[in-house]
Amino acid sequence: MDKLLITGGTRLSGEISISGAKNAALPLLCAALLTKEPVTFTNVPRLNDIGTMLKLLAQMGVKVSRDGHGAATGGGLAGETITLDASGLNNAVAPYELVKTMRASILVLGPLVARTGEARVSLPGGCAIGARPVDQHIKGLTAMGATITVEHGYVHASASQLKGARLFTDMVTVTGTENLMMAACLAVGETVIENAAREPEVVDLANCLVAMGARISGAGSDVIRIQGVPALHGTSHRIMPDRIETGTYLCAAAATGGDVRLTGTSSAYLDAVIDKLMDTGCEITTERDVIHLKAPARLTAVSLRTAPYPAFPTDMQAQFMAINAVAEGSAVMRETIFENRFMHAVELIRLGAQIKIDGNVAFVTGRAALEGATVMATDLRASASLVIAGLVAQGETSIERIYHLDRGYENLDQKLTALGAKIQRVKA
Ligand code: EPZ
Repeated sequence: MDKLLITGGTRLSGEISISGAKNAALPLLCAALLTKEPVTFTNVPRLNDIGTMLKLLAQMGVKVSRDGHGAATGGGLAGETITLDASGLNNAVAPYELVKTMRASILVLGPLVARTGEARVSLPGGCAIGARPVDQHIKGLTAMGATITVEHGYVHASASQLKGARLFTDMVTVTGTENLMMAACLAVGETVIENAAREPEVVDLANCLVAMGARISGAGSDVIRIQGVPALHGTSHRIMPDRIETGTYLCAAAATGGDVRLTGTSSAYLDAVIDKLMDTGCEITTERDVIHLKAPARLTAVSLRTAPYPAFPTDMQAQFMAINAVAEGSAVMRETIFENRFMHAVELIRLGAQIKIDGNVAFVTGRAALEGATVMATDLRASASLVIAGLVAQGETSIERIYHLDRGYENLDQKLTALGAKIQRVKA
């Protein structure tokens, strides 16, 4: 198992390119299950979670062709091109062994029931950040006429033909919206999803489905309408840039007093994050697919509250806790999406941060400096916050269990090295 060694104190500077979005790529790969024709995806990030999803689809009988080799670009490799051909789909099962490593596997449920009339999908267990049930996915498919039972840890779903329905989710759920939207594409009649997630990844999925022949309107709003069609066809789709990876590098630059340009991205999906970064005192300019951040010598602490898009994303909360830990002043941070998403706080305290947790609220008092230490990554975004803190801390920080990072950040150590960071990956 690898660990990262970071020697802090370098101001990050230079230019790197941003990868395709993990949280767009995962549902998009599942959308290929909806058609017998090949679907090609470009700008696919090289991540462990993508590898897991491709293994999952391949064991269902999906033919996976990967070009594997992207061109070298500033601070990393260009995304991969992957073609999926689900004409030979013959095993509508998502086994526990694969699902336990990646909750997003639940995204095969809707497409499998819609395309084959049946699915057996292992229930994803809880994870470090919360219980994360999938009751809304099941409720929605049941409303569309699927018969669903949960036995021996598996969701068994069957339907001779899904029917359009009016769906209302009790809370805004991103993968819930994506699963139901995909299922509705092949249902008879119209489906309306109310209280739908508005995340840009939902829109990227809808755009690809429409290119496959689906009839969808309202993606990006909280009411999505899907008119079912008998079949979908193949297409080629470029995965959108990763807004959370973008936000993470902006935070790393801000925390180190840096000056960086991120290319192959977009500020369009990051209003709430860019707003907060400007409140910390950063200068941010944007062009078409470039974001340039110039940080002040010392940041100002910012309070925030996470909420569904377009509000401040929960996937950026940990990175901002690292920023607030070294900023001038203090901040109140409220996490409203997941019930256990402050695991990084105790590790940041090991680096000398001043943080008090009270339920879903964190009170952070900024300090002029942090000190290097050995810390442990507990989940994907928590590990990103430890990297940011390590880049600022005096001396060396050693981060263990970085497999969490590899699930969602492509070539992170190469990209940070390209920005001048003293960082190396070593065998633990
Ligand atoms: C997606 O998870 C993302 N994952 C998460 O990113 C992200 O944190 C989350 O949306 C919120 O933005 C992917 O897209 C693969 P939810 P998802 O369903 O869809 C509750 C990362 O770091 N809920 O929107 O699983 C749930 O427990 C990851 O990249 C139910 O109760 O999140 C949570 O409290 C982490 N029942 C809330 O809703 C349900 O059936 C929102 O969860 C569904 C959800």
